[in-house]
Amino acid sequence: MAHIVTGNCENCRFTDCVTVCPVDCFHGDERMLYIDPEECIDCAACVEECPVQAIFAEDDVPASEQHWIAINAERAPGLPVVNAKQDPLPGAEERKQELGL
Ligand code: SF4
Ligand code: F3S
Repeated sequence: MAHIVTGNCENCRFTDCVTVCPVDCFHGDERMLYIDPEECIDCAACVEECPVQAIFAEDDVPASEQHWIAINAERAPGLPVVNAKQDPLPGAEERKQELGL
């Protein structure tokens, strides 16, 4: 099993999650981050850090977000590691409000 970044991260990319990951398994593109399931040790530390509740244990991913399980596995290995806090994307705070969070 692994933890999964789901759709709420898209266009937010707050990156609070990466600061607590003990194995640096977050990888990112210009829109969001992805967890490499081969590297994640399921410590769950990142779940509470995300301001938009984007991260779930694989077994807890909501039905509407299931497609992100395969997307994380496909994209993460080919993207650079993100292990330091970055500024959120422009509009992230507005998107957070839209999500009711
Ligand atoms: Fe990293 Fe732990 Fe989150 Fe996996 S569950 S991505 S190991 S912080
Ligand atoms: Fe994305 Fe949340 Fe991390 S918005 S970058 S999963 S803190």
